[in-house]
Amino acid sequence: MIIPIKPWLDLISEDVSAGSAARLGTGYAGVALSSDPVAEEIDRSRLVGVSSNKWQFESNRMEFYHEPILAARIVEAMQPLQGKQIFDGTLGGGGHAELLLGHGAHVIGCDQDEEALGYASKRLGHFGDQFLPVRGNFGDVDSILADHGLDRVDGMLLDLGVSSRQLDNAERGFSFREDAQLDMRMDTRSDFSAKELLNEWSEEELARVIFEYGEERRSRRVAREIVKAREKKAIETTFELVEIVGRVIPKTSAKNPATRVFQAVRIAVNRELDVLEQALEKSVGVLAPGGVLAIITFHSLEDRIVKQFMRRMSSPFVDRPEWPEPKENPDYHFNLPTRRAIAPDESEVSANPRARSAKLRLAVKV
Ligand SMILES: C[S@@+](CC[C@H](N)C(=O)[O-])C[C@H]1O[C@@H](n2cnc3c(N)ncnc32)[C@H](O)[C@@H]1O
Repeated sequence: MIIPIKPWLDLISEDVSAGSAARLGTGYAGVALSSDPVAEEIDRSRLVGVSSNKWQFESNRMEFYHEPILAARIVEAMQPLQGKQIFDGTLGGGGHAELLLGHGAHVIGCDQDEEALGYASKRLGHFGDQFLPVRGNFGDVDSILADHGLDRVDGMLLDLGVSSRQLDNAERGFSFREDAQLDMRMDTRSDFSAKELLNEWSEEELARVIFEYGEERRSRRVAREIVKAREKKAIETTFELVEIVGRVIPKTSAKNPATRVFQAVRIAVNRELDVLEQALEKSVGVLAPGGVLAIITFHSLEDRIVKQFMRRMSSPFVDRPEWPEPKENPDYHFNLPTRRAIAPDESEVSANPRARSAKLRLAVKV
């Protein structure tokens, strides 16, 4: 079942009228999906996770990875019609890719996680040559495309962070809820895991990472406690880290005190912010004119990077007080259909808690 594609102009006017948070519409991403109530029920169940025995259209539903976030908005923004080529840099379980393929686009689906790639390749195998799975890092988008004889694409999608599957798989060591070896590598070919970071980095480096990537104000004390603990014995498991952090940060709410520290370590292990910056810069070179850049972020650090990049790249002129007049901006490469981030609506958030902090930003190559 396919989400009807709406033209850009309709989207822009919806955004302008949607209010400050750009939380669009009611019920279902603010978009009239279909005039056919049966079709609409199928689409709703697919997108917002309403389980229904009646509509078993995903054969591998039980192995489900996670629901594609802001799916209708992505489809409308990317207009994934036949003949278009779209780079999905965060293939994950293939949820977004399946939607894009379903409309006829060719998708180059990239993920650095071998397990995700295997799963999505199986799920999307029936699309044949329309789908190209690639194991790689989206920071290398230019060379990945070149290796497959492509220099330009019509869209680039990044749905950042870890998948529910990675979080739920205790062995991957991403979650503070499960006791496991400290790992957190999205790409298991890397020889740098959370264990190396926590046991080898200096106290200053640990404090910086926990402060910058976890926005944890008690970063210095946590770093000191980590160093104290590892002097006695190497830190090896997620529960050991939870316990060490708990010595410094008391539990005062439902939120686990180690949440920010885990986020910080994961971002550092996977160099998530550096790679994002790299991919954004490269998007200029790989997107064809009119190509759409769509980025879904989940925390303010990522969103700030995307917002600043898009602002810098979307002003035709730049000005400084000391200049007599504005000058042309050599970095003017994108137009922004909406300056605000687009957030999922309440029904999507209640059906899919992972959507809670999601923000989508869009830019169109000039
Ligand atoms: C949130 S999930 C994507 C879910 C996907 N959009 C879907 O609908 O199923 C993020 C995925 O991106 C992958 N990933 C994160 N950073 C990456 C990077 N720099 N390069 C390649 N893959 C990355 C993760 O391994 C994970 O599988």
